Amino acid sequence: MIDTRERGELKKMKPIGSLLVFIAAVLITLGLSGNALAFHDGGVAHCDGCHTMHNSVNGEPDLAGTATEPGTSLTKGSDPSSTCLNCHLDTATSTSSYHVMSLDGSIFHSGGDFFWVNKDFSYIVRGNTVTSKGEDKGHSIVAEDFGLAPQAVPATAPGGTYPSDSLGCSSCHDPHGSVTNKTGPISVSGSYGAEPEAGTVAGNYRLLADNGYRTAGLTYNTPGGVPVAVSTNNRNQNDTLHTDYGSNMSAWCVNCHGDFTMAMKHPVGPTDGALSKTNNQTGMSYAQTYNKYVRTGDMSGAGWPASTGPYLELVPFERGVGAALDTTSTAGPSSGNVMCLSCHRAHASAFDSAGRWDFTTEFLADSHPQAGDIDVGDIAGDPQQTAYYGRDMVNDYGEFQRSLCNKCHAKD
Ligand code: HEC
Ligand code: HEC
Ligand code: HEC
Ligand code: HEC
Ligand code: HEC
Ligand code: HEC
Repeated sequence: MIDTRERGELKKMKPIGSLLVFIAAVLITLGLSGNALAFHDGGVAHCDGCHTMHNSVNGEPDLAGTATEPGTSLTKGSDPSSTCLNCHLDTATSTSSYHVMSLDGSIFHSGGDFFWVNKDFSYIVRGNTVTSKGEDKGHSIVAEDFGLAPQAVPATAPGGTYPSDSLGCSSCHDPHGSVTNKTGPISVSGSYGAEPEAGTVAGNYRLLADNGYRTAGLTYNTPGGVPVAVSTNNRNQNDTLHTDYGSNMSAWCVNCHGDFTMAMKHPVGPTDGALSKTNNQTGMSYAQTYNKYVRTGDMSGAGWPASTGPYLELVPFERGVGAALDTTSTAGPSSGNVMCLSCHRAHASAFDSAGRWDFTTEFLADSHPQAGDIDVGDIAGDPQQTAYYGRDMVNDYGEFQRSLCNKCHAKD
């Protein structure tokens, strides 16, 4: 048992090369080499996609040739996340839209790229080497078949009791896609705004754990139910094609981060973080401030109501219960809420605390990773642009752009 995460283990792991070849073979066997084919269809997929009844995948003793036993629930990977990554990891030959972990940080999906939780890099500040650790970049999932060992510190979710060594895909997603109190079979994914046929229901947004789902001592209970949002299967999210959030995300995260809605924490809606409140600094509502703010030193945006332009994928918000959602909307908020994902990615990001932008620097142009840093050679393209989802921050915002907290607070 390894009890701390090893740097760059995924890269160093010897079996990974042969594993990737093997995975490619599995994908072809399953008919999933293209990305048009559905698998979950919003609910539970065919059991054999994830389970092996006799530990006899393709006649081999195990899937990866590295594990000696299947998972405890007869899963094809030796743990839940390994089971999922068999299909959800980029390979040298497959970079599908539903992948959540790349080999070079190139997934710009709303959830973020698990590449970063396994990526350490360093840079020099006044002669001292500073190391930026992968384990600080988001949810350090455990996937032993892929070299992702449990994170020792913190031992539990900050503000809660969920154990870090149990953290994996099935901590948050229900692998069986259950919908609580459903009134018919699931006919469509709940992620794309599609209407279910009469007598059927849509699945949950991103198969997220519904009330009553149990994992590692936790039983989910989200007042108001699973988060509401619509998304696209586009791994290059941007201001004109992006997840549009409705409601309940913060309350859902709080299943594990229980203390994060208490007093003395940043408000996260639905009442305390309402964007219709007046921002005393600007004299406008937070919604108006969001819409007016273009960049540091530029408040020439359309204000409120604003139908086009102000939406910034790096700082999203929830439009509120029952609001119309549209993945191509460039409209800023007219009311709605600030939420956990206004500042964080759900999976991971290039920045500490899974920040959607770098929380640790005054000028975003100084964010790391950047070209010239140590151990950034495996990051796709210009490292800083990749960290900001393909944006050239200096070009788009100038050298003196301050923190994106200012999108709502305009303190710059
Ligand atoms: C997308 C992958 C996936 C599919 C498809 C899937 N399972 Fe599972 N299943 C899992 C994982 C992962 C676990 C272990 C969950 C954990 O330990 O957190 C599991 C656990 C189980 C368990 C033991 C725990 C429990 O919930 O009772 C049973 C039984 C089970 N699955 C049955 C099924 C059946 C039957 C089907 C087909 C109708 C199916 N599964 C389809 C991934 C899947
Ligand atoms: C056999 C390959 C395979 C396995 C194993 C697999 N997935 Fe998937 N997954 C897919 C494909 C293909 C898609 C895109 C099509 C779809 O949504 O059905 C997808 C889509 C998804 C989505 C988005 C679905 C939506 O409707 O928004 C989630 C979330 C997801 N997978 C989670 C998981 C989790 C968690 C596991 C492990 C418990 C897992 N997957 C295991 C192939 C797989
Ligand atoms: C099933 C439990 C669970 C859920 C649900 C959950 N988290 Fe976490 N979270 C954890 C655990 C455990 C840790 C500590 C281990 C780690 O950092 O990976 C953690 C750590 C974090 C961190 C610190 C990451 C770092 O590397 O410093 C952030 C930020 C975070 N969670 C945000 C969120 C947000 C936002 C949501 C909702 C989208 C959420 N969490 C939902 C369990 C959970
Ligand atoms: C801490 C909770 C958490 C964990 C752990 C987690 N997810 Fe997610 N996942 C989410 C949330 C929340 C979203 C929706 C994010 C959004 O739309 O901004 C999401 C989105 C997704 C998507 C849609 C594409 C995207 O990136 O937005 C897929 C596919 C997916 N997850 C699969 C997985 C797989 C596979 C794993 C394990 C390797 C995993 N997730 C681990 C919470 C989690
Ligand atoms: C306004 C932006 C913002 C919002 C909204 C926000 N966070 Fe954070 N979060 C941060 C910043 C910045 C940090 C870095 C450490 C700090 O400043 O406290 C952080 C750190 C964290 C950490 C790791 C460090 C710690 O404090 O233990 C966790 C876990 C976390 N946030 C979870 C959440 C959850 C869960 C929500 C929603 C209930 C949420 N955050 C909402 C900005 C935000
Ligand atoms: C999406 C909009 C949005 C973003 C982004 C945002 N905030 Fe806020 N912030 C709010 C709202 C709304 C309130 C609640 C105001 C109220 O209750 O009057 C708030 C309140 C606050 C408060 C006062 C808290 C209190 O209880 O009085 C501080 C301090 C703060 N934010 C700092 C930050 C920092 C630092 C960041 C970036 C890490 C940030 N905010 C990002 C919308 C935002």
